[in-house]
Amino acid sequence: MTKKIITYGTFDMFHIGHLNLLKRIYEFGDELIVGVSTDEFNATKGKKSLIPFEQRAQIVEAIQYVSKVIPEQSWEQKKHDIIDLNIDIFVIGDDWKGKFDHLEDICRVIYLPRTEGVSTSLLKSSLNSIRNISKQDLINAFDILDRLRKDLE
Ligand code: CTP
Repeated sequence: MTKKIITYGTFDMFHIGHLNLLKRIYEFGDELIVGVSTDEFNATKGKKSLIPFEQRAQIVEAIQYVSKVIPEQSWEQKKHDIIDLNIDIFVIGDDWKGKFDHLEDICRVIYLPRTEGVSTSLLKSSLNSIRNISKQDLINAFDILDRLRKDLE
């Protein structure tokens, strides 16, 4: 019998941690459905993604391990999706450990270890630190490069 799995997330600035997770989740079953958080749902959590929902959903749907993407619009949605879509297993990264144990009444719940050293938050803070480089820092860097170039001539 087909084993159906579901996971949820924002998947902003899609990175290797997201890919590893989807690949490992797929190994638990035959059909993987991904609930991608909408921009409106994220706004209720005080979260703003860099990439809009439509694009995040298209990227996730193009991943070979993913059968289907659905929009995630509320916290209560999970239990309805699990029942309506006949889900066997709910899987999510272990940053959520314990948070979805209540779903054990209706399906199996698995928390997988995250890939270390990568996250959307880290990518965003790297971008911010580049954006915050001052004009003077850039002038100094160009001066250094210019001197190096002259030394090499
Ligand atoms: N995930 C993972 N390994 C990572 C980053 C994310 O396994 N290094 C998993 C999360 O545990 C979650 C899913 O990917 O199950 C989607 O996570 P999401 O919150 O969209 O990505 P993050 O990179 O964790 O984003 P943020 O830094 O904003 O929390």
